[in-house]
Amino acid sequence: MLQAVTLITGASSGIGRALALRLASRDIRLALLARRSDALADTAEAVRQAGGFAITKVADVTDRQAMATAVAEIEAEAGPVECFIANAGGGQRMAADEFDADVFGDIIAVNLQGFANGIAAVLPSMRERGKGHIVAIGSLAARLGLPRAGAYSAAKAGVARLAGSMRIELAREHIAVTLIEPGFVDTRGRSKTGTRRKPFRMPLDEATARIERAIDRRATVAAFPAILVILIAALRILPSPVYNRVIRRMAG
Ligand SMILES: NC(=O)c1ccc[n+]([C@@H]2O[C@H](COP(=O)([O-])OP(=O)(O)OC[C@H]3O[C@@H](n4cnc5c(N)ncnc54)[C@H](OP(=O)(O)O)[C@@H]3O)[C@@H](O)[C@H]2O)c1
Repeated sequence: MLQAVTLITGASSGIGRALALRLASRDIRLALLARRSDALADTAEAVRQAGGFAITKVADVTDRQAMATAVAEIEAEAGPVECFIANAGGGQRMAADEFDADVFGDIIAVNLQGFANGIAAVLPSMRERGKGHIVAIGSLAARLGLPRAGAYSAAKAGVARLAGSMRIELAREHIAVTLIEPGFVDTRGRSKTGTRRKPFRMPLDEATARIERAIDRRATVAAFPAILVILIAALRILPSPVYNRVIRRMAG
């Protein structure tokens, strides 16, 4: 069940914004966080117009102190964060012939360290209250090394492992951890992960509906679309020359 204060990072566009609008009619207070203040204010205004409650915090998830401050301010203004949706993230194309360790570090910083910074900010009060829900927006890219998106795949694999580890420990304290692993979602933006083809791309509305359902039932893992989940699982047992050929064709 979605709870009183739900914090969504990366709420200024794409999945985070669509999720905020989807949740606007629910009886919850939304705290929306991202770096771009104008786009964030626009999401909050759309939530309010839909009858919802939203406050905004401009912060960079890679900045641990800024995240701690933002969460402290949210808790003072709206109450304890009971559901934390770590959605801020993304990738950028980085082919092997342009490999750059700084770019790699940036992608890890936003997707993986950003998730960790959020956990560090919300967890103490969840533990104190003996309840809460942490939701990580990972990616099916975590399940294989996507060509030209090695950093993104690595970062999302890290998110999956961190969520899995925390889930086991925190279950004893009645804090749920849900990992969402979407395939390609039509956010109407350009692909930043470097994949030219986006097989089985899912409409934004359908993806956010699935995310909402997974949060409501406190799912352990929700991965979609099923066809891509099955395809990836099947590919992983194929001999590597066949695997390489299919992945090249799939990802372009
Ligand atoms: N779209 C897909 O096909 C797809 C598939 C699987 C998983 N995902 C995951 O879903 C999540 C959302 O992706 P999206 O497609 O909706 O991308 P998007 O439209 O680019 O949105 C990304 C959001 O993250 C925020 N963000 C980025 N860096 C940030 C930072 N350092 N600090 C705070 N906020 C930051 C951006 O806001 P500001 O720029 O305003 O900070 C924006 O609101 C990501 O974690 C992505 O990896 C996406």
